[in-house]
Amino acid sequence: MQTMTASAKHGLAAGSGHAPQRPGWVIDQGWQHYTAQEHAVWATLFERQSRLLPGRACDEFLRGMGDLPFRADRIPDFEQMSQVLRRRTGWEVVAVPGLVPDEVFFEHLAHRRFPAGQFIRKPHELDYLEEPDVFHDVFGHVPMLMNPVIADYIQAYGEGGLRAQRLGVLDKLARVYWYTVEFGLVQQSDGLRIYGAGIVSSYTETCFSVEDASPNRLWFDLARVMRTRYRIDDFQESYFVLPHLNELLGLANIDFAPLYARAATEAELQPGDVLETDRVLTRGTGRYHAAKRAP
Ligand SMILES: [Fe+2]
Repeated sequence: MQTMTASAKHGLAAGSGHAPQRPGWVIDQGWQHYTAQEHAVWATLFERQSRLLPGRACDEFLRGMGDLPFRADRIPDFEQMSQVLRRRTGWEVVAVPGLVPDEVFFEHLAHRRFPAGQFIRKPHELDYLEEPDVFHDVFGHVPMLMNPVIADYIQAYGEGGLRAQRLGVLDKLARVYWYTVEFGLVQQSDGLRIYGAGIVSSYTETCFSVEDASPNRLWFDLARVMRTRYRIDDFQESYFVLPHLNELLGLANIDFAPLYARAATEAELQPGDVLETDRVLTRGTGRYHAAKRAP
């Protein structure tokens, strides 16, 4: 079973036929055009995750999910989501045709607009998709955008992305986004919990990330994460764990320039590497990925 993860591919332009109608590649969601089958795909995904996430997703995600006008039986209307979100943290959701160029993506985030894929995966692709769809982007991301810390952090990431692009170090910054916003774990008083959108929107990775013996779970270290490659086509081999979500506030205000300079002089790390200097929460068996690599 594959996981679904493609948000770091936002740098790839959408295919031809997806020409943007307006600046920022924003399109109309066209909510009235969703078919009964498309709403049914949402319903299947929503019900599965709603059952699975209590006790696995962090409190902030569950609270955000509860406060948004989600319905189990239909794809959300972005404007209705945005009305609630604007009041809470000043963010809104805008529809885009799929993957958009990096600068467009960062520009939206820097202005508290979350660009969300308007399409939904096909019924036979429930657990794998190549581009982030409405379930990943809205169900996975929007509940955390209701939280003021994440709201500020992702805006800062958008601003940082525009700077990193000018400095030619976008790959380093993208890893920080990947291992926090997409695949982050956080230690809460009642256990290890998920806050990453790539995990909470994936049925299989929800359990793998917090319960399976295979992956490493390492305490988050910014400079270390910048050096660490990641997997876009399967479960992560390592997850990075924050002691508290408030740690992200510090990241939003940090000057990344010295870290980029340092990262440029250090070797890149493979997704499953564990270093002597790592603070290890769980040393993984690596069994899941080893089995896949076996001839
Ligand atoms: Fe994402």
